[in-house]
Amino acid sequence: MIEILAISGSLRAASTNSALLEALAANAPADCRVTIYDGLGRLPIFNPDDEGERTPTEAARLIDAVTRADGIIVSCPEYAHGVPGGMKNALDWLVSRDAAVGKPAMLVHASPRSLYARAALAEIMRTMSFAMYEDRVVEIALLGRKPAEVEAILSEDANRQAMREAVLGFAEFIGDER
Ligand SMILES: Cc1cc2nc3c(=O)[nH]c(=O)nc-3n(C[C@H](O)[C@H](O)[C@H](O)COP(=O)(O)O)c2cc1C
Repeated sequence: MIEILAISGSLRAASTNSALLEALAANAPADCRVTIYDGLGRLPIFNPDDEGERTPTEAARLIDAVTRADGIIVSCPEYAHGVPGGMKNALDWLVSRDAAVGKPAMLVHASPRSLYARAALAEIMRTMSFAMYEDRVVEIALLGRKPAEVEAILSEDANRQAMREAVLGFAEFIGDER
């Protein structure tokens, strides 16, 4: 079983990024398990003084989850042409650890815009030595859609197929990186 950890950069209850990740999990191939990370909003603000023995429980949980995962999928909104603070904060907790080094990662997109955040996130994650999978791009336009519309779009056969194929391609990439 290939274990994939999915992280949404949005804390909104009706987040389209979180909905996309839940749909990816539901449509993943049989030999892939996609688990959604739910601790983003509980992470304290990163402070290098709080590493090592002082690492906060939630940060340790994140580091452990990333370490144990075979790969990471991130879906993240853009705020004011940047990566939302919560997402950057989560990544900051991983910077000086081994968890990210060589860890396969894939970005997926719930908005056709967000081009600054996409580029910034890719640059940040490459700098942290994540092994970025960039062969296949999943972009499903959910921006501004109501939850019922989001559910309908994510249930469309073509989108389900695209999500399945993307996770499949990412799983093959993970296999190649091992
Ligand atoms: C404070 C704020 C700032 C935003 N700034 C941008 C922006 O600069 N560029 C952009 O493409 N979208 C921007 N958006 C739109 C969000 O990226 C978009 O609504 C996204 O789909 C929300 O994701 P979610 O549904 O997962 O919460 C902004 C939204 C908020 C709330």
